[in-house]
Amino acid sequence: MTRIELTVDGSKVSDEVEPRMLLVQYLREKLGKTGTVIGCDTSNCGACTVHLDGRSVKSCNVLAVQANGHEVTTIEGLAATHDGAEGELHPVQESFRECHGLQCGFCTPGMIMQAVDLLEENPNPTEEDVRLGMEGNLCRCTGYHNIVKSVLHAAGGVR
Ligand code: FES
Ligand code: FES
Repeated sequence: MTRIELTVDGSKVSDEVEPRMLLVQYLREKLGKTGTVIGCDTSNCGACTVHLDGRSVKSCNVLAVQANGHEVTTIEGLAATHDGAEGELHPVQESFRECHGLQCGFCTPGMIMQAVDLLEENPNPTEEDVRLGMEGNLCRCTGYHNIVKSVLHAAGGVR
């Protein structure tokens, strides 16, 4: 077992984990952060995307021990990262809701985490920028049209 200390959604966590434990397993199984989901477990789908020190990563592709000393934000802590009122959604979450950027919602946490990072890098993306920036995130339901629309709509709001 290896000792790790990290910050998850603003809370300091100190724990003992097996060195082979994936970050996604740690978040879900040890911290109960089940908003981060597993779609493929092979770094293809992006459903498990979280932020590690503010940059999006596929948490099925990162070991929990690699997060030692770092800051992790999940979909469950995202709303608190912007200056909204208590209980308010993050603007990107709000855009997905408004533009119907989801059907079953399975891919949505990862899509939103990826979109937030994309918009931080490029606050004024074209449709092509959005499609390219989101290509590591797969959705089985929407045909992507409304997802792209949601990200562009969020760009308007967070610009
Ligand atoms: S579960 Fe991590 S990329 Fe699919
Ligand atoms: S909304 Fe169902 S997988 Fe994307």
